[in-house]
Amino acid sequence: MALDSYFTPTKGGDTAFTVNPPKIKFGRGVINEVGSDAKALGMSRVALFTDPDVGKLAFVDKARESLEAAGMDVAVYDAVEVEPTDRSFKESTRFAAEGDFDGYISVGGGSVMDTCKAANLYATHPADLLAYVNAPIGEAKPVPGPLKPHIACPTTFGTASECTAMSIFDLLEMEVKTGLSNMHLRPSLGIIDPESLETLAPPVVAANGFDVFSHAIESLTAVPYTRRAAPEDPSQRPVYQGANPMSDLNCLEAIRLVGRNLVDAVNNPTPDLYEALAFSGMLAGIGFGNAGCHLPHAMSYAVAGLVRDYQPRGWPSNHPMVPHGISVIVNAPAVFRRTGPACPERHLKAAAAMGADITGADPDTAGDLLADRVAEMMQATGMPNGLGGVGYSEDDLDALTDRAFAQQRLTNMAPITVDKGVLRSLFEEGLRYW
Ligand SMILES: [Fe+2]
Repeated sequence: MALDSYFTPTKGGDTAFTVNPPKIKFGRGVINEVGSDAKALGMSRVALFTDPDVGKLAFVDKARESLEAAGMDVAVYDAVEVEPTDRSFKESTRFAAEGDFDGYISVGGGSVMDTCKAANLYATHPADLLAYVNAPIGEAKPVPGPLKPHIACPTTFGTASECTAMSIFDLLEMEVKTGLSNMHLRPSLGIIDPESLETLAPPVVAANGFDVFSHAIESLTAVPYTRRAAPEDPSQRPVYQGANPMSDLNCLEAIRLVGRNLVDAVNNPTPDLYEALAFSGMLAGIGFGNAGCHLPHAMSYAVAGLVRDYQPRGWPSNHPMVPHGISVIVNAPAVFRRTGPACPERHLKAAAAMGADITGADPDTAGDLLADRVAEMMQATGMPNGLGGVGYSEDDLDALTDRAFAQQRLTNMAPITVDKGVLRSLFEEGLRYW
């Protein structure tokens, strides 16, 4: 393909990609317009989803005041669990079903937006929880039709749940992270107000920034859509299509914004820096929403799930956890050293976008250049030093490998062939970076 040699046609490979941009409103102070937007979507009785911590912030008051000023009847649900589970999804669905709402507003991070998507789905199209959950854990039944309108208002910039058609949760009895993935889950509108980031602690900004970066780099280096088998039925083309020319544009710019602004935003924040990061999160969200993530995210579910005693600074949690952005980025440099040779040009472009000097660089070193630059930024923003920094050792490699190997929807998107041996060696190389 003249666009980029990465998309050279292959025998039996797909020849088309789709562009499904989300509907977004972006800018400082736009949370004050949520009432007008809800009215335009035909809402009159709304459920406002948040969590106990975000619910105390003035940002939620602004949303509520705007909704009430527009004549909405507002019922607040502030019991969303951070890292939601099937149990918390069921509780929020009960609230949604009993309230007979004609619209949903979510104000919070990924957990809040994902819980709101699920409650809207199961209240609108009642079914057993596993009915719509991704196979093989769930039955992956098609969602029968559109949901009630949902306006998602993120208060972080990592997850991009306002842009995506998925919802992630922990299935307690199987001790596994799984999710729902269907175009009907995508919010009707995302309201991205960079002022919402001003209350985030610096380590949270760092973790979110690396999550954005990883969404972008994983989408950029995912297997190209032309190498994924063409669907027999065009309606069965997957949401996650592989790298494609449209997501490339979003992702490279997202990487450039993170590379240029993240270290300062963590150590010396200003409203302009928050604006740049909020925009980078949106761009990467659109990118990975149409392309897909691979190894750092596949590995992250194992890193988060097997946590023993790591307690991050800056999070309002009083129990051990590895926050999402951290559980992703501790794997990333090891992955780039391995994926570099599969698509060196893409790793080189990403290294330059992150701020590395690539003058005269040999493409054979592209993965290492990117890995070194990311490790340097991790140090500059106080991130843990690899898996060892969040409490893992050589003794954990087998358990981490087994858990990550179960994430085949993600590992299959990698530009290299992934078996257990590859995963184990990536975890081993990720134990320490400096
Ligand atoms: Fe992520």
